[in-house]
Amino acid sequence: MDGNGRWARSRGLERIRGHERGITAVRETVEECARLGVEGLTLYAFSEENWSRPQLEISMLMRLLKKFLVEERPTLMDNRVQLLHVGRRERLAPDVLRILDETIELTAGNDGMKLGLAISYGGRAEIVDAARRAAIAVRDGALDPEALDEAAFRGFLYHPEIPDPDLMIRTAGEMRVSNFLLWQVSYAELHVEDVCWPDFRKEHLHAAFRAFGRRVRKFGAVLP
Ligand code: IPE
Ligand code: MG
Repeated sequence: MDGNGRWARSRGLERIRGHERGITAVRETVEECARLGVEGLTLYAFSEENWSRPQLEISMLMRLLKKFLVEERPTLMDNRVQLLHVGRRERLAPDVLRILDETIELTAGNDGMKLGLAISYGGRAEIVDAARRAAIAVRDGALDPEALDEAAFRGFLYHPEIPDPDLMIRTAGEMRVSNFLLWQVSYAELHVEDVCWPDFRKEHLHAAFRAFGRRVRKFGAVLP
């Protein structure tokens, strides 16, 4: 979800105004994906690298996150969306964790789309954390190292129940992976949208899905 800052600055506004407006795009995207039957959606809300931003911006983002996690509860429930946290908990403040956990708990029984919220997330960090958990399982005698294949390793990722993405959408014209779901995106189709995140609407989502529908996916094989 990139380009909130640019959206705001190009209008002579503070960056936080872009983050605020980004919430509208989040709500519309979540509702539309749930309506269309998407099984899993992961939104990159705050990366490990974002901790290096000015403290004021971080605290405003965290305040916005708490507000979102409370105010969107009816939307999540109405659309049968199950919320999951994708990322590390260590650096998140206790009040953020409490509200996050409450919303996760509230939506735990929902059988619709799985919504991963990547907060304090890094793709390399996730792989390192998974490797550590696998090593601990070996040490504790719960895992035979010879049995550690791709499927078993996947089980140590943060939320293996969210399917690997078929499609990765980036906004604000950026053509980087930016440390997002490094393990999971191995065969994801990339779609780059020029609009900044606050302007992302369901029409852009539909355009991305249509573009995805035209891709030929061979997964390394030869078509018959
Ligand atoms: C994305 O917008 C939101 C977060 C990373 C929290 P940015 O804040 O990265 O916006 P730009 O890249 O400065 O325009
Ligand atoms: Mg950015």
